[in-house]
Amino acid sequence: MTSLLKANNLSKSYALENQTINVLKDISLSIKAAEFVAIMGKSGSGKSTLISILAGLDTTDFGQVFLDDKELTCLTEDELAVIRQTDISFVFQSFHLIPTLTVAENIGFPLKLSGSFSDEKVNSLLQKVELSHRKNSFPHQLSGGEKQRTAIARALITQPKILFADEPTGNLDEKNAQSIMQLLIDLQQEFKTALVVVTHDDSIAQLADRTIRIINGKIA
Ligand SMILES: Nc1ncnc2c1ncn2[C@@H]1O[C@H](COP(=O)(O)OP(=O)(O)O)[C@@H](O)[C@H]1O
Ligand SMILES: [Mg+2]
Repeated sequence: MTSLLKANNLSKSYALENQTINVLKDISLSIKAAEFVAIMGKSGSGKSTLISILAGLDTTDFGQVFLDDKELTCLTEDELAVIRQTDISFVFQSFHLIPTLTVAENIGFPLKLSGSFSDEKVNSLLQKVELSHRKNSFPHQLSGGEKQRTAIARALITQPKILFADEPTGNLDEKNAQSIMQLLIDLQQEFKTALVVVTHDDSIAQLADRTIRIINGKIA
């Protein structure tokens, strides 16, 4: 199968006082449509930097990222914003819900942005993440697991081609972590979305089609 997302020779460094930290060193990889890839590596090895660049949330110093045939690394901020409303979604460890919006409003927010809001789609996602009974709650009224289920529904409502998740269970206890991972996997299969998950958890990585290990900014 041809690749959905392709990264060529990514390099990124940060200047800190009188030294330079080379965070990513010539990383190339590709991810197929509907593939589930785990990214593992020690804290500080560059995992978050890598997936932020792959998702168009951060810029690279060198190299390119392509989604299908479109080069993301040469798009403007506005063009990237459109891609994030249609093809790419992201789930964060710390949820990033909008505190002033209800669960249903958070989930429907990407559709509002792109002018394609539909109550039916919101209700369908609410059901899939088993939060119909909390649709009118605000984020501060939810448990960690419920917050992450809301974030996952919001990420998938646009039917993205690829979903990135940066330690999505990092703020959850073990029981919630397992059910969130199972939900992510069930929904990525149902939606046929590619899923890229940064994780420290070997049991999660074992569920993936493939694991990419980052050591000191390089693929092991
Ligand atoms: N904005 C930044 N400025 C300076 N250094 C950064 C910045 N973001 C990340 N780093 C450094 O880059 C390295 C990799 O960070 P990160 O990608 O967050 O690693 P990981 O997600 O694997 O823990 C770390 O040494 C971190 O301190
Ligand atoms: Mg990280």
